[in-house]
Amino acid sequence: MSSSTPLLTVDELSVVFRRRGAEATRAVDGVSFTLEEGRVTGLVGESGCGKSVTSLALMGLLPDRGVTVGGSAALRLPDGDVDLLSLSQRRLRDLRGSQLAMIFQDPLSSLNPVVPIGRQVTEILRRHRGLGGERARKEAADLLYRVGIPDPTRRLREYPHQLSGGMRQRALIAMAVACRPRLMIADEPTTALDVTIQAQILELLRDLVTEEGTALLMITHDLGVVAGLCDDINVLYAGRAVERAPRSELFADPTHPYTVGLLGSIPRLDAPRGDPLTPVRGSVNDNIAWSDGCAFAPRCDHYTMDCLQGAPALVEAAGGGAHTHRCVNPGADAEREPEEAAGARTGPEEAPAPETGAERTAAVDDEEGRA
Ligand SMILES: Nc1ncnc2c1ncn2[C@@H]1O[C@H](COP(=O)(O)OP(=O)(O)OP(=O)(O)O)[C@@H](O)[C@H]1O
Ligand code: SF4
Ligand SMILES: [Mg+2]
Repeated sequence: MSSSTPLLTVDELSVVFRRRGAEATRAVDGVSFTLEEGRVTGLVGESGCGKSVTSLALMGLLPDRGVTVGGSAALRLPDGDVDLLSLSQRRLRDLRGSQLAMIFQDPLSSLNPVVPIGRQVTEILRRHRGLGGERARKEAADLLYRVGIPDPTRRLREYPHQLSGGMRQRALIAMAVACRPRLMIADEPTTALDVTIQAQILELLRDLVTEEGTALLMITHDLGVVAGLCDDINVLYAGRAVERAPRSELFADPTHPYTVGLLGSIPRLDAPRGDPLTPVRGSVNDNIAWSDGCAFAPRCDHYTMDCLQGAPALVEAAGGGAHTHRCVNPGADAEREPEEAAGARTGPEEAPAPETGAERTAAVDDEEGRA
């Protein structure tokens, strides 16, 4: 990671959803990370681990009611830092045009189906860059050309349904870069696209980061995307970053058992024939509250009683530098004989029973009540 001051510093972000009569959901539970200009930072993890909720919280796009957001997200602006989590909706709207942009997985839901693409792009240019008439139309065509849409002047007259999925995603990226945002969040922008289009979109995003110096937060569950695009990676589990490292270090020396499991789930062309994949067992729902211990414990083969002494702290990995993780027994099996390791383990079945949903709700309520 570079040593420059981060553009965005997210510190202990938490998001709790409550609905009357239903259990509170702690969707994000103390996520911290930084974003730097000219770099792509990945947020990776299984479905339901809090990736989208993290991005929506940063963009101020969570529902108004039934949500409690905690922590801070300091954005560096020319006239001083602002905390994105405590800004008014009006101020956030201004920033979303001039400093922040977001690309969603499904471009159709972000584009207005009854307005031609051109009008949607020129409207952004008018509102946020004060461009009008021919200048705005020329800039819009230029933007579409830059994101690789052929015959942009004709495309500007077309409606979203007349464009292919890949072109719609490009149009959305063109709209996102129209205001030259300093920070862009892309939430699974290529998941709905076929692999050749995926590669083009990723290349396009990489170029934008390099050319404009934008800080890009790339949200994905796809480690292939992470390997190809991200400079720095945060692995998220149950609403918390459990490992973070520059890309090469994470792939060369994954330390947290969850990261090791994620990497072990990917088929490799160079693996010996018949070598089984080693997926992470269970699901992201099989967790315990971070306040009780490591949320990954019920799925972890390195699980010991030490893992149940509250949330493991973020510590430096053996290689040092910018590589950190939250595990009290990193690489435990590598250091012991297999029988010894098996004997030392206290399996999930022998550990104190994880909290029930009702207990968890009560704990959340208690905590909020004390705050
Ligand atoms: N509006 C909401 N109300 C209640 N719970 C919600 C709401 N939105 C999200 N959640 C819950 O928050 C948790 C995190 O959801 P999120 O959408 O961030 O997951 P994700 O990591 O983006 O997963 P995916 O890879 O499937 O997109 C999930 O348990 C989800 O059910
Ligand atoms: S060894 Fe313990 S702290 Fe580390 S991932 Fe497993 S359960 Fe969590
Ligand atoms: Mg999501």
